[in-house]
Amino acid sequence: MFATSTIIERFLDEKLQVHPDVISYIIEHNDISLIDRIIERVPAECLVASLSHVPGLYPSRDGCRFLGDPEIEVVLGREHTARPVNNVSDYVMYFNNRYKTLSSIIRGRCNAAPIEALLRNDQYMQEECAVIGMVSDLRTTANGHRMVQLEDRTGSINVLFNRSHPGFDEAEKLVYDEIIGVKGTLSQERTLLFSNQLYRPDIPFSYQPYMSDKQGKAALISDIHVGSDTFLEEEWLSFLDWISDSEISYLLIAGDMVDGIGIYPGQEHELMLPNIYEQYDRLGEYLSDLPSRIKIICAPGNHDVVRGAEPQPVIPEQFRRKYCENCTFVENPAVVSVQGVKVLMYHGRSYDDLIGLIPGASYEQPGDIMIEMLKRRHLSPCYGRKTPIAAAAEDRLVIDPVPEVLHTGHVHILGISYYRGVLCINAGTWQSQTAFQKQMNINPTPAKAVVLDLMTLQPSVYDFMKSEPTPEQIAD
Ligand SMILES: [Fe+2]
Repeated sequence: MFATSTIIERFLDEKLQVHPDVISYIIEHNDISLIDRIIERVPAECLVASLSHVPGLYPSRDGCRFLGDPEIEVVLGREHTARPVNNVSDYVMYFNNRYKTLSSIIRGRCNAAPIEALLRNDQYMQEECAVIGMVSDLRTTANGHRMVQLEDRTGSINVLFNRSHPGFDEAEKLVYDEIIGVKGTLSQERTLLFSNQLYRPDIPFSYQPYMSDKQGKAALISDIHVGSDTFLEEEWLSFLDWISDSEISYLLIAGDMVDGIGIYPGQEHELMLPNIYEQYDRLGEYLSDLPSRIKIICAPGNHDVVRGAEPQPVIPEQFRRKYCENCTFVENPAVVSVQGVKVLMYHGRSYDDLIGLIPGASYEQPGDIMIEMLKRRHLSPCYGRKTPIAAAAEDRLVIDPVPEVLHTGHVHILGISYYRGVLCINAGTWQSQTAFQKQMNINPTPAKAVVLDLMTLQPSVYDFMKSEPTPEQIAD
């Protein structure tokens, strides 16, 4: 095991910068000889060593692709997929499915044994060993180390992450119920595993996003909140005028389509439209004015009329009477293929949990939280906190397949980030600061739309608070 600084210094010796993913790759493969082999492959004119210079690492796309060439296809989260919870056995199936799916992703990188075998078999006393489990408990010890209880289907074990070891910053970000792999050595009494390496399911180093082979643009928005007295109708109408005249063919809405009724105490005093049917009708009328060539995807959020527990079902039919045929209603979360580009739409209730649990996480930086979701390959890892989860035979909050784009909302703040080829977009809101946000010192970034070029996956932000919205390109 070697420190990040050792790797960076070796590259600097050759007058090269090194991409963080290359550092993670070298540490994960625990092979210092890789450094020289990577340096050999960096062309003279290149200043940064990237994953493309790693020997033996070939770019690949996720296995889930599309045989046809659909303009738009709901891959996951079609209507009637979400089911009610019947009994406690649904929860057992749910967590077993989460463990099975995510542990199989980690298993390719660490040769893990069942926890029970570690505690019984002497062979594991002699050598470094690995386990994969769910974080069932975690705490910081008096000396500042991180102590985690890991559980698999055979048993549980305490794992100690030493604060002086490289990579401790990732151990500090562990949250309840996420699935991780750990490689380490057992204590003499076998009561403790000393971690040398932490593995998350993560996005593969080799992941290569798909780009559409024909021209097309999609606008990504969320949190319209029609019906609220802080809904920015003038800016919204300006957006509708603009998109009608644009070359945009797709409009994706990641939840909180309307403000809803009874979502928080005293909400009735902040509503322009106090009737939920009127709220949905008004949005339907707005969207019906758009040209029919624009395909619209509508997903629910925590302000919408469906159950709060995720996955949330689609908006029921009785609220869709004013919507045209170009509107497709999906669940939350949903994976939508737009000209073959997979967009994972998730409203983002789990921001409220992850921001409280991950050191340094904040509402102002939603792009960073989306990266944490991708590393865990899970949209809402922590059970039993602020995000209600409806158990089912399959854990629909697992991020699988890897999308080209993760599109969220909920925090009302624009955020764009990249992680190993995945573009993360939180598009903000169409509501100005609410009394609650003022109280919480949250400053929203309203009336922005993120336009995605499907051929290049390049996002541009348009600001409709301005009289003439002009594209602001985002650097990769
Ligand atoms: Fe919202």
